Amino acid sequence: MPNRYLIANWKMNLPPEGIGAFLGAVNADGIVVAPPFPYLREVAAGAPKSVAVAAQNCADQPAGAFTGEVSARMIRDCGARFVILGHSERRNIYGESDAVVAKKTALAIESGLTPIVCIGENLNERERGHAMAVCSGQIAALGMPQLANAGEVIVAYEPVWAIGTGRNATSAMVAEMARAVRDALMRYWPAELAQRAPVLYGGSVTPENAGDLVAHGGIDGFLVGGASLDSKKFLALAESMNLLSSSQNDVMI
Ligand code: PGA
Repeated sequence: MPNRYLIANWKMNLPPEGIGAFLGAVNADGIVVAPPFPYLREVAAGAPKSVAVAAQNCADQPAGAFTGEVSARMIRDCGARFVILGHSERRNIYGESDAVVAKKTALAIESGLTPIVCIGENLNERERGHAMAVCSGQIAALGMPQLANAGEVIVAYEPVWAIGTGRNATSAMVAEMARAVRDALMRYWPAELAQRAPVLYGGSVTPENAGDLVAHGGIDGFLVGGASLDSKKFLALAESMNLLSSSQNDVMI
């Protein structure tokens, strides 16, 4: 069975309640918090034991004259265990190609980080019936020798049209895509890694739509943007995934 994850992608934001207050409130297994680079150490030091830390990106080079870049090794040194790669904002705003995402994924694995690789079709691709082909191509592009040494690689299916738009994919769409993603993983990745790869959904996940996505989406968790900046909403997502221990449920009641 793949592990289950609930990942907070803060993007270039901080929770208005403050980092300390947020971390004090979200104590549940499977939670990963991805702050901007300068806050990695603070989040790693302040997070409860059950909560892990991710960076939102890393350089496509191991070291050297690359002004403004941060290497996978440096991220590891800051106490993070995960790194989000190939987010659609990286692909679309900063022009990251499949090849660049693959290079970063290889470096992350070599540095001991667990990659959280994002894939997903845009609206035009969905309307033309190409959603599965696009995602399968993005997974194929990640088929690389380093995968043989990876303990775990997490895949986040995030349709571009659903990110930050308030328009989530339906649980039926997510279930269909999760099946297609798993088929592609089995086709292009080492079988053992593919079998245990958690497949997450991301795109306008809220406490209101999470229950249906958990029950019928066929996924192993969520990558969350907007709703991850508020500990109450984020904790409600953890609850919908059943990540809270029974004693925490008692406290919430
Ligand atoms: P959203 O972002 O939850 O705000 O749609 C998801 C993401 O970009 O990972």
